[in-house]
Amino acid sequence: MTATYLITGGAGFIGSHIVDEVLRRGEQVRVLDNFSTGRRENLQEVEFGTRKAELIEGDIRDLATVQRAMEGVDYVLHQAALPSVQRSVQDPLTTNEVNVTGTLNVLMAAR
Ligand SMILES: NC(=O)c1ccc[n+]([C@@H]2O[C@H](COP(=O)([O-])OP(=O)(O)OC[C@H]3O[C@@H](n4cnc5c(N)ncnc54)[C@H](O)[C@@H]3O)[C@@H](O)[C@H]2O)c1
Repeated sequence: MTATYLITGGAGFIGSHIVDEVLRRGEQVRVLDNFSTGRRENLQEVEFGTRKAELIEGDIRDLATVQRAMEGVDYVLHQAALPSVQRSVQDPLTTNEVNVTGTLNVLMAAR
């Protein structure tokens, strides 16, 4: 029996490799990403909606979006983040909202 994985940040550098690997293992994949730093090219080999993976384009800062993405999910691989230190110095509020509040949203929705 296959499991369903939610991969947040699945269009990013790390997340897209995880998407590839989880699909390779024959599991179900749902990606939640707002494409702020992620790239659609990272997912070009993944056939969303038809074959294996589902894409939800949305923001982890929005709890309702995360709750919707979490429905029916067995495992969460949380890679959505703003990873730049320089960006966090220039705009700490946004980095905090995404990395801290966004992560809390993922945890609350998973609970
Ligand atoms: N790249 C590395 O070498 C490395 C090493 C260690 C840890 N990490 C960690 O892995 C995680 C991912 O890093 P990465 O290098 O893949 O970064 P990345 O910028 O390539 O990927 C982050 C993904 O999150 C998405 N995202 C950002 N904000 C979002 C939001 N509000 N809602 C939904 N999606 C959002 C982006 O669009 C992107 O697809 C980070 O936590 C980073 O600190 C990365």
